[in-house]
Amino acid sequence: MNRDRKAEAQLHTILGDCRLFTRAECYYELSSTNDYCRELAEQGEEEGVVVLSESQTAGRGRLGRHFHSPRGDGLYMSILLRPTEKIGEPGLITACAAVAVWEAIFAITNVMVDIKWVNDLYYHNKKLCGILTEGQFNSSGWPSYMIVGVGINLYPPKNGYPPAIQDIATSLADISTSQSVDRLALCGEFVRRFAQYYTALPKRDFLDIYRKTSCILGREVSFQYQNHLTCGKAVSIDDQARLVVQTAEGTYITLNAGEVTLLRPVLPLS
Ligand code: BTN
Repeated sequence: MNRDRKAEAQLHTILGDCRLFTRAECYYELSSTNDYCRELAEQGEEEGVVVLSESQTAGRGRLGRHFHSPRGDGLYMSILLRPTEKIGEPGLITACAAVAVWEAIFAITNVMVDIKWVNDLYYHNKKLCGILTEGQFNSSGWPSYMIVGVGINLYPPKNGYPPAIQDIATSLADISTSQSVDRLALCGEFVRRFAQYYTALPKRDFLDIYRKTSCILGREVSFQYQNHLTCGKAVSIDDQARLVVQTAEGTYITLNAGEVTLLRPVLPLS
């Protein structure tokens, strides 16, 4: 049986009074929690369902990348949203989720990590968490639903990280003094905080933390812009959570989405 009813009951206890949460579906294995959540959305599921899986056979990241999701080593979850006009700007949802993850990690482990615009959490230049926000948009460009998928590495994989990420990935167990991390408690902390910010999105209460925890502001970055590799200094994050970069020529470029690379990573003090 693939369904983890015990975890579902626990999540209901943890999140029973959370205004966004409706119900949880927990599995031992799914291809991708985002894909399954999309199926629920297409069947008319209402906002607030949380889907968790102990492992994913086809976990996805942005830009078509694979997200390594071995059994029991991470928190792999998605939440279904149906933003109304009241929400204002759905484009802020990823930033709001990043801050909610930051706070959940701090609440559970006491470790302060970095947010790397736009959707990753890092610790000492190693990736700890990725967020994949996907949506189905109607003809006027408004999302009929959105799915926020969160993948947090809790433990180093028992068989090691795949070679492609072994030097750039880390886990909560690697960076905190805790030997074990309560996956469901972490999920609960995230959903509760996310719910607070999301239901008051136009207030942008999360933006200050998004800026303060950014590991790229003030730093030299490179990025693809109009089909060219471009470099500049990340100078600010505006009220739409867009990144403003100043090039060497003094031009300001505002990035909506995409990926930036730090040119000179800060090395941890030993
Ligand atoms: C990224 O690193 O670009 C984003 C990674 C997002 C991974 C999470 S794990 C849960 C959810 N299901 C997926 O297939 N992807 C997201």
